[in-house]
Formats: sequence, structure tokens, C-alpha cells
Amino acid sequence: MLNDIQEVFYSEEQIQGKVKELGAAVSRDYEERNPLVICVLKGAFIFMADLVKNITVPIELDFMAVSSYGNSTRSSGEVKIIKDLDTSVEGRNVIIVEDIIDSGLTLSYLIDVLERRNARSVKVVALFDKPARRTVELNADYTGFVIPDAFIVGYGLDYAEKYRNLPFVGVLKPEVYSGS
Ligand code: PRP
Ligand code: MN
Ligand code: MG
Repeated sequence: MLNDIQEVFYSEEQIQGKVKELGAAVSRDYEERNPLVICVLKGAFIFMADLVKNITVPIELDFMAVSSYGNSTRSSGEVKIIKDLDTSVEGRNVIIVEDIIDSGLTLSYLIDVLERRNARSVKVVALFDKPARRTVELNADYTGFVIPDAFIVGYGLDYAEKYRNLPFVGVLKPEVYSGS
């Protein structure tokens, strides 16, 4: 697996430092607001786990699985809910936790769904943001790293379901894609 990595973009230490900052920012803004923190599976699962350990105010959490990419490196443009929330968002202060914003389609769809379910507020925490690829206007409320237009893997992010378990984020060697 490590053999497939061409370059490390963000080390485990860099990511953990940023996650601490994001957790502190959320904690400052959500005192006594009992937010519902929603993890967008699968990509955000590691970020979610690390982020909530750095949030120092009471929260509840839930999980939602959506997919737009399938096994490709490009968004299909269609977002599917694969697993819905267990919790009602009505009247809740919702925080969506995403690993990456690319075209923005996944998040704009999710925000729309949660607003239509009458959430009181909907904010977004995204570890990575790739603004060059945006096709809909969308900005996170809390952003970790703004990144160039490269296909990154690791720390939850996959290529064809692999590499999510890397503790750092990097780019794959070109031959990894051509071999699939
Ligand atoms: C990836 C990523 C984001 C989304 C970002 O998820 O985790 O959720 O794409 O792309 P967008 O801004 O163009 O919508 P993916 O659909 O690959 O599912 P996964 O999280 O299970 O890997
Ligand atoms: Mn995802
Ligand atoms: Mg994916």
C-alpha cells in the first residue's frame, strides 16, 4: 500500500494539528447549543473520530452515508443516500463533518436535505477544500486545508475504496490508476 504513494501531502502530525484547531473553533462557537454532529460516511469517518475528541462542549452525533463518486476519480454528479440519520434534525443546530469538498455537489445536496427537514442551523466542517473543482457555489464554515487540484487519498479518503486507512494524506503514483 505504501508503495503506491508518490508523495505525502499532509503528514499525520500536520493533520492532527489542524484537527485540534478545528475542534477548538467549533467548541468556542457551540457552547450550550447541543449541536448534532453528522459524519458523512465513508470518507469522513477518521476525521470525525479525531475531531469530536477535540470538541470540549456537549454534542450528539449521527452518521449518514452518501455516495457520488462510486469507484471513479470523478463525481458522477448524482448523490445517493445510502444510510440516513437515526436522529431528527428538526430544530437542531447541525454540523456536517466532511473530509473533502470537491465539486460541492455532495454538500449542497446534504445541506438542502437538512434544511428541508427544518434544522435550526446547518454548518459545515471540511478538512480539505479543493476550490478549483467547484461546480456549485459552496463554502465550508470551518476549513482545514485548501488544496490544489490533485486526487488525494488517505485519512478516510479512498481511491476505489482503498487507502482510507493511511494516517496521512498523499497522492498515488500514476500507474496505480492506469492499472485499474
Ligand atoms: C467523496 C468525499 C466527499 C465527496 C466530495 O465521497 O468523501 O464526500 O466525494 O466530492 P464533491 O464535492 O464533488 O461532491 P464519495 O462520494 O467518494 O464517497 P465516500 O465518502 O464513501 O468515499
Ligand atoms: Mn464522502
Ligand atoms: Mg470516495
